[in-house]
Amino acid sequence: MKTNWYEKKINDLLSIGGYEKPELQQDSLKLDSNENYVISKQFQNDLISGAKKKSDVREYPLGGVERLIQAIGKFIKIPSSMIGVGNGSDQILDLILANFATTKTKVLTSNPTFGFFEERCKLYSIPMIALPFSNDMKLNVAEFKKQSKNADILYLDSPNNPTGFQFSKADLQKLVKSFDGLVIIDEAYGEFSKYSLANMVKTQPNLIVVQTLSKSFGLAGLRLGYFIANKQFTEAFTKVLQYPYPLSTLTIEAGILAVEKPQQMKDSVEIIKKERQRIIETLQKYNTFEVFDSEANFVLFDAHGSYQRVFTALFEQGISIRKLGKIGNHEGCLRVTIGTKEMNSRFLLAIRDLLR
Ligand SMILES: Cc1ncc(COP(=O)(O)O)c(C=O)c1O
Repeated sequence: MKTNWYEKKINDLLSIGGYEKPELQQDSLKLDSNENYVISKQFQNDLISGAKKKSDVREYPLGGVERLIQAIGKFIKIPSSMIGVGNGSDQILDLILANFATTKTKVLTSNPTFGFFEERCKLYSIPMIALPFSNDMKLNVAEFKKQSKNADILYLDSPNNPTGFQFSKADLQKLVKSFDGLVIIDEAYGEFSKYSLANMVKTQPNLIVVQTLSKSFGLAGLRLGYFIANKQFTEAFTKVLQYPYPLSTLTIEAGILAVEKPQQMKDSVEIIKKERQRIIETLQKYNTFEVFDSEANFVLFDAHGSYQRVFTALFEQGISIRKLGKIGNHEGCLRVTIGTKEMNSRFLLAIRDLLR
C-alpha cells in the first residue's frame, strides 16, 4: 500500500492552526472585530431589500460582477478596467498569495501584521521577513527600504491591524517607488485614515491597493472586497483567477446600492474618528495604560500585567474586546473597536469601575 500522503497533508494543515476568531458571546457588546455599528441598521435593511428586489437566485449572476465593478469605479473615481472584486478582501489576498508566491518568494511585512495574511503565508510556506514595531508602535521606513532588497512582495496594511499605525503619505509613496517587486497595500481601514494610495496605481504598475466594504460601510457580513491595480494584473485576476461567479447575486446587488449612496458611510466614519479621539484621551487619563495613536476604527493599548484581568472583567460584563498580549516590549496589549457613542461609553465606564 502506498504511503498515505493525504493523511500527512491533513496533519500538516491541522498543525498550522489557522486564523483565530474572537470568542462568540451572545448579546455581547462586540468591540472585538473592527466592525462598524455606527452606520444605521436601516442602511443595511434598505440595501438588502433593494438587492432582493433585483435578484433572481435561480440564475447565475451573469454580468453582475461587471456592473458592480463599474459602480465601484464611479465611487472611487478609478477606471473600472483597474478594479477587481473578491469575497471579502481576505479572498483577494489569498488568491494573490496562492498564485503569485511560491516557497521561494520572500514577503516583507511588519510584525505584527494582519493575522489572516500571516496565516496564509504559513499555509503556503511562503517565507516572511517581518520588521517589528518600535516601542511607541511606529515603523521605521529606512529599515523597510534596507530590507526591501531581499524581498519579492511588500505587504503593508495601511493603517495596520492591530496597531492603527500608518506611515506618512510621503514615506509610503517613497517606499513603494523604491520597491521593484509586487507591492500590496491593504487599506481595509483606509477611510478612517488620512490618505489612500489608490491613485498611485495609475503610475505604479507593481502596486495593488486592496479595500473593503466590511469596515467603513459596516457590511462585514456581505463579504465584499475589491482592489485597484494595473490593467494587465486586473485582467489576469478577473479572467483567470476569479472566475466565473465568485460573488453571490445578493452581494453584487447590495454592493452596487451601497457604493451608489456613500453618504451614510461617510457620516459614520466622521463619528467614529471623533469617538476614537475620545477613547484615546479617556484611556490616557488613567495613567495606567499606554495608549497608542490610531488611524483606524480601533485603538490599541497596553494594560501591562493586568491585561488578562481587564479582558476577563470586561468579558464577564458582556463587553468583548480583542486580547493580543505581547507585542514587542509591550506585555499586555488589548485592542478595542470604536463603536457607537453608547457602546464606547459603556466600555469606558466599565474600565473606570475596574480601576477604582
Ligand atoms: C488589515 C485587514 N485587511 C483585510 C481584512 C479583511 O477584510 P474583509 O472583511 O474584506 O475580508 C481585515 C479584517 O479584519 C483587516 O484587518
